[in-house]
Amino acid sequence: MSDVMIYANGLTKRYGSFRALDDVSFEVRRGEVVGFLGPNGAGKSTTMRILTCFIAPTSGTAKVQGHDVFDDTLAVRASLGYLPQRAPLYLEMTVYEYLRFAAKLRNLDESTFNKRVRNVVEVCGLAQSLAKEIRTLSHGYRQRVGLAQALIHDPPILVLDEPTSDLDPNEKTEFLNYLKQIGEDRTVLLSTHNLKEVETACARAIIVSRGRVVADGALDDIRARSGNVRYVVTVQESAGEQPYRGRGQLPRMDEVENALAHLKGVGKVTELPTDERAHTFELIGDEDTDLRPELFHLIADKGWVMLELRRDTQTLEDVFRQLTIGDERRNRQIGPATDTSSDDDDYDDEDDDDDDDDDDDDDDDSSKDKR
Ligand SMILES: Nc1ncnc2c1ncn2[C@@H]1O[C@H](COP(=O)(O)OP(=O)(O)OP(=O)(O)O)[C@@H](O)[C@H]1O
Ligand SMILES: [Mg+2]
Repeated sequence: MSDVMIYANGLTKRYGSFRALDDVSFEVRRGEVVGFLGPNGAGKSTTMRILTCFIAPTSGTAKVQGHDVFDDTLAVRASLGYLPQRAPLYLEMTVYEYLRFAAKLRNLDESTFNKRVRNVVEVCGLAQSLAKEIRTLSHGYRQRVGLAQALIHDPPILVLDEPTSDLDPNEKTEFLNYLKQIGEDRTVLLSTHNLKEVETACARAIIVSRGRVVADGALDDIRARSGNVRYVVTVQESAGEQPYRGRGQLPRMDEVENALAHLKGVGKVTELPTDERAHTFELIGDEDTDLRPELFHLIADKGWVMLELRRDTQTLEDVFRQLTIGDERRNRQIGPATDTSSDDDDYDDEDDDDDDDDDDDDDDDSSKDKR
């Protein structure tokens, strides 16, 4: 049990009759870097805010390094660094002053601060900005300051809500490399919309959709979840100047398509764009069977020339789309089904706060936060 750094059990969060989170449970173990994925509005930030003691769940429990987020909030906050989706910053402070302030809040002594500040400034690319007032920084740089603040006390656990969304491509890559490095001896829960990022930095992902966990596991297992594989088959259409080496005639597109569609085990057949020398098709098959031998023999028996045959598992993106597509239109109300298009009528959207607004006052509606 001591290996479990983040523990969420049956977390539910309601806003009126709207279920922002619905029975969310998962664990993150020491040293794991876990991607927390989901479409807009799925409940990622809500989960992270509960784990970091910013809001209370309606029901369910959560522990961070064994400390309950409700009963032991100081211990929870001490063991983690949190970068909210919109980092609240004191705009009139310089970057250095702000980091020093964050370090004081974390009870760091002067010499520890001096060591740590050098490290986080390097990691976050802030060396040229230390003396600048935060109000003069661009959005991406403010994001870096938020990240530096989350790292200043060298916490064993990091909760990062879309940390790379405003970084430029170079910084994204650097940041992800750094994440891999810190993930070796730290636990990270990272929300992002960028599936490539998850594939770079995480071995495991949790996908949430409409407030529920719809997938949790190693990336390979999640990719295999759809139960389908995809084949790409290319048959020669024209030999050009060179002599044709097939036994039969050069095939027409519909002949190839027909032959493939009639093969046992082949699901959908779709023609893919190619040049005039080849017919290329995508086929969907069942992941338990490998159709490559049959495909090879089919083409050979017809006397055609096969130029390519490939079998891929589905990409993370395919699976993500299958699991979450159309979510925004589905009902999340408690009670009889109603149209959810106007759910947010009484929604005080704190994430739309202007950056000039320092206080992330998401807890304004404490009456809604009853457990
Ligand atoms: N204070 C609130 N009052 C009412 N509804 C809320 C409130 N906060 C969040 N919600 C709703 O809860 C749902 C989950 O929101 P959340 O911010 O957790 O989504 P998310 O997965 O982080 O999305 P994004 O990718 O857009 O950041 C959304 O439908 C949102 O509208
Ligand atoms: Mg969010």
